[in-house]
Amino acid sequence: MISKSLKNSLANPNDNIYTPKKLAKDCIDSFIFKKNDTILDAFYGNGVFYNNYPNNIKKDFTEIKKPYEKDFFKYKKNVDWIITNPPFSMITPIFEHTVNIVNKGFGYILPGYGLSNKRLQILKDNNFGITGISYFYVTDWFGFPVIFIKCEKNKDNLFLFEPKNYKIFDEISNSIKETK
Ligand SMILES: C[S@@+](CC[C@H](N)C(=O)[O-])C[C@H]1O[C@@H](n2cnc3c(N)ncnc32)[C@H](O)[C@@H]1O
Repeated sequence: MISKSLKNSLANPNDNIYTPKKLAKDCIDSFIFKKNDTILDAFYGNGVFYNNYPNNIKKDFTEIKKPYEKDFFKYKKNVDWIITNPPFSMITPIFEHTVNIVNKGFGYILPGYGLSNKRLQILKDNNFGITGISYFYVTDWFGFPVIFIKCEKNKDNLFLFEPKNYKIFDEISNSIKETK
């Protein structure tokens, strides 16, 4: 029987785009690893992240497609790091599972608009801070910009000020009332 995860992956063609090797290497190189750290490529694809992780760390992978059929959401072992390009249609559940199994941190490529309030809250509730962010295009992807975020456990966000919602309407209506 076809699993829910595999069905979802097949139904979303944007979930099956592949990362240029140079970009995967730039993402990996933005982390500092310790000897014997463990790392998971949670969304292996053709292995562009997995094959470029440093040699002195222990690596593992999950990939839902044949011949592997290893579902990330069923992976229950703890790992120090995850660095990869995940399927964009399920980023919130991916964040939820990631914060449960990662000891030190993770790096994900996301759409440029990918940091919703809910996802930021998942990071905050689980003591992960965004400690690095890059912004770029891959010209043969979708036409919208993408970001790479580096998240580390027990670190603060490197934002200039905390993420929050602002509202302009009340300010305008109050100032109109004041001038009446
Ligand atoms: C955007 S592609 C990226 C592949 C590769 N990481 C790269 O950057 O080239 C996402 C990959 O995740 C796989 N995938 C989707 N759902 C999955 C799941 N639940 N568990 C493991 N892999 C999954 C897809 O089959 C696809 O190969």
